[in-house]
Amino acid sequence: MSSGRVLVVGSLNADLVVRTARIPGPGETVAGSDLVIVPGGKSANQAAAVGKLGGDVAILGCVGEDGNGAMLLSSLQDAGVDTSQVRVLGGVATGSAMIAVDAAGENCIIVSPGANGRLSADDVNAADEFFATADASSVLTLCLEVSLEAVKAAARKARERGAKVVLNISPYLKVGTDLLDLVDILLVNNHELADLTGQADFDPLGDWTSVIEATGAALGASGPRTVVVTLGAKGARIIDLDAGTASAPIASPKVKPVDTTGCGDAFLAAFSFRIAAGDSREDAAAFAVRVGAYAATGEGAQNSYPSAEQLASWRP
Ligand code: RIB
Repeated sequence: MSSGRVLVVGSLNADLVVRTARIPGPGETVAGSDLVIVPGGKSANQAAAVGKLGGDVAILGCVGEDGNGAMLLSSLQDAGVDTSQVRVLGGVATGSAMIAVDAAGENCIIVSPGANGRLSADDVNAADEFFATADASSVLTLCLEVSLEAVKAAARKARERGAKVVLNISPYLKVGTDLLDLVDILLVNNHELADLTGQADFDPLGDWTSVIEATGAALGASGPRTVVVTLGAKGARIIDLDAGTASAPIASPKVKPVDTTGCGDAFLAAFSFRIAAGDSREDAAAFAVRVGAYAATGEGAQNSYPSAEQLASWRP
């Protein structure tokens, strides 16, 4: 399948993962498994997922000059990602994420930026070679694990070349119209939607009239017109702010989750890959829920993502 290029600007993390029967509360100590260190980071995960699916994908970001940075570069290259614009920096550690995964596959994550914090707007603005490969068939994917200035610079550069900009507003931050106005499609999970709208108790599968209104008010008149909401095992819904509508839930295949880390990144990657291939939002989301569900059946983030062949033969 021919597809436009997916460009990814953002974070690369080593994921330090411990499994535990249940995630501890404040002040509590619980016993866990041996520590494993695996490739992660929202942006690196997105790039790896597109690469494994067979897409044309490149990433711009920073790692430290250490073993974790080498692990990330090797994982991305094995997935077919162009890593020529990943800078390896001395004097700073590769970004990392402390992750606890419970018996139901749910996780909680704390990220420590490390080298991701060194990606500046100047670096992004200077990356002409990287953005030269973008055109109207391309999609840029962004998250908020690097500085807002770098994120805005990337969105501006991609827009100049006619590419679509997809933002995952995670880790959640209240962002202004200076960023939102550069975004075509916003992707949030149910928690981020609650943060964005101030409506914590919406019914994921019910009537979304008030959710649509609150989302429109939060994003402003010139912000993204499409909001894709991921709902975990309940699938996804698409809000069209111009039409004032929300799609029916796009059902996810039923799986027994092993580890949900990086499932949202897999969804975003698969969605962006298919948008770059010319699919409708609905078709892209239907493909993406399948990729996200597949990712929940294996341990880790990038390590759990499917190739196109694995996905095609998967019978959940
Ligand atoms: O979305 C999952 C990712 O969030 C993990 O891989 C971790 O690195 C954090 O960035």
